Amino acid sequence: MCPCHPEQYVKNLSELSGRKGLADNLFEELGIAARQTGTPSLDDMERLTEEFLVGKANVYGSVSFYDFLKPENRGKKVYVCNGSACLTAGTQKNLSDKLADHFPASEIGTMCCLGRCHENSAFYYDGKITPALPWNK
Ligand code: FES
Repeated sequence: MCPCHPEQYVKNLSELSGRKGLADNLFEELGIAARQTGTPSLDDMERLTEEFLVGKANVYGSVSFYDFLKPENRGKKVYVCNGSACLTAGTQKNLSDKLADHFPASEIGTMCCLGRCHENSAFYYDGKITPALPWNK
C-alpha cells in the first residue's frame, strides 16, 4: 500500500472484493467459508485470495477483524458481548456463568458490540441477539 494514497488502496480493494457482483463478493464468500467451524480454513482463504485477486494479508485481515469470522471464535455456539456498555454495566460475568450451565467453555465466545447496549447482558445465540436467556422463558 502506498502510504501517500490510502484512499486509492481502499478503492482498489473494494472493487476487487466486489468485482464478481454483489451476490458473489469476497465478504459473502468468507461468511460461507466460516459456516462449518466459525472461521474460514487456511485453504479457503488461499482459494479466495486467488479468486478475488487480493493479497493474503487482506483476506486474513478481514477474517481476524470480524467477530463472525475470526479464528478465536472457531467452534463457538454462543457469544457474550464484551462491548464497553455491557462490561461497565457489570452484567457479563453473571451472564457467562449462566451460559456455562448450558455450554462448555469451548463453545462460549465473545463479540463486540451486539447493538443492545441500552439493555446490556447481551449475547448472540442461534441467530439471535438477546438480553434474555431463551431457556429461562
Ligand atoms: S456493548 Fe454490549 S450490546 Fe453494545
